Amino acid sequence: MSTILTDEKIPNNVNLSSDRRLQRALEAWQPGFLSWWSEMGPEGFQTKDVYLRTAVSVEANGWAHFDYVKMPDYRWGIFLEPRQEGRVHGFGDFEGQPVWDEVPGEFRNLLRRLIVTQGDTEPASVEQQRMLGQTAPSLYDLRNLFQVNVEEGRHLWAMVYLLHAYFGRDGREEAEELLERHSGDRNKPRILSTFNEPIADWMSFFCFTYFTDRDGKYQLKMLAESGFDPLSRTCRFMLTEEAHHMFVGETGLGRVIKRALEVMEEIKSDDPAAIRRAGAIDLPLVQKYINFWFSSAQDLFGSDTSTNAANYFANGLKGRPDEDQYEDHVVKDATYEIEEVLEDGSIKIATIPMRNAMNVIARRAYVKDCDIGVQRWNRIIRKAGVDFEIKLPSERFRRTVGVYAGHHFTPEGQPIEAHVWEARKHEWIPSPEDRAFVSSLMKQVIEPGKMAGWIAPPDRGINNLAVDYEYVRL
Ligand SMILES: [Fe+2]
Ligand SMILES: [Fe+2]
Repeated sequence: MSTILTDEKIPNNVNLSSDRRLQRALEAWQPGFLSWWSEMGPEGFQTKDVYLRTAVSVEANGWAHFDYVKMPDYRWGIFLEPRQEGRVHGFGDFEGQPVWDEVPGEFRNLLRRLIVTQGDTEPASVEQQRMLGQTAPSLYDLRNLFQVNVEEGRHLWAMVYLLHAYFGRDGREEAEELLERHSGDRNKPRILSTFNEPIADWMSFFCFTYFTDRDGKYQLKMLAESGFDPLSRTCRFMLTEEAHHMFVGETGLGRVIKRALEVMEEIKSDDPAAIRRAGAIDLPLVQKYINFWFSSAQDLFGSDTSTNAANYFANGLKGRPDEDQYEDHVVKDATYEIEEVLEDGSIKIATIPMRNAMNVIARRAYVKDCDIGVQRWNRIIRKAGVDFEIKLPSERFRRTVGVYAGHHFTPEGQPIEAHVWEARKHEWIPSPEDRAFVSSLMKQVIEPGKMAGWIAPPDRGINNLAVDYEYVRL
């Protein structure tokens, strides 16, 4: 195990205090980060004590420390999983050769682009979520929001560390630009379009943490396979934190569903209008939010056929999620079947080189992972004796990237014409009225243990504490 310096300010295991050059670079970057946090981070609550988890080591047991901290004083750490002696490339043309500890010159630009694209999403989500504290449904949820936010801030540190430590001058410039682009900014937007949409209500927040953070999980899983070892080790540790973000999404939506079921029992009705009058979110509306966020998260995987993806794979930069589970890690002559959409909207199967299909392969693994939570939500519904099933829409539904873009499909995947889509889309995704209704429910509840009327309490609190613990001291 590497020596871990618990530097007071920036807990790290990269020997920060003995690396003067890196230390100076990060010291120069930090003031910009702090002013970004105060301007673009959570609105309000910055002077309050929040019960937060801080990464303090990479030990499987005891990596996290829980205590009250004011968000601007959060100790944004830099942690890489320990080096595995003798690690070799696990896939691509370099399979079996020793991994790289330094950036190979010929892949410098590709690697920098991968790191910058990942790094850009981290502060973007903090910006997207910055107003949500004003409408938190409970102190417990408020704390979870801030936990996600500070960890995304730490993930930015993780990527900036790689840029500063391995990319010299252009790395430093990219690190500055990560603070200059802003979500939704007309002149300098974030790189990926989903990260420019504001997350205006808590339904969207729970869907974002369930579906979009899970895309993050899959991107990190692919980068964790990288033959550039420092990137792999950084991403492996980030995955540890990311799990909690998806937990917030899964349990958040589960609690919304539970509350809807309680209200249905109370009013003895499954009429959505009646459920809304009683202040809960009806299950068909939950389904519409899922349809919206699931489809937009899938777009983040990129085109279904991609020479970039093939290059990343061939050169050992980005593997498949859980590369271990495959037998063939070179896939030089292997093929893969994807769908193609013909002029008339009908579907045909196309066979392409597998290396060009890496985005679809990752996306389909992601879809399977998404379905695990869906099955848990359906168990809650079945237990209440209600006849309703949440379903992930077809991978074809409402896509703007890849083979399905420019065509229209129902959630079941049936092709439809544009005018049918226009006439029926609000049966499938939230209408302006639906969003206005959800927004009307968004009222801040901050008494310890109390919940807004549209969401059930969680089964348990954070770190074995009670649900009514004072997670944020106001
Ligand atoms: Fe993250
Ligand atoms: Fe996250």
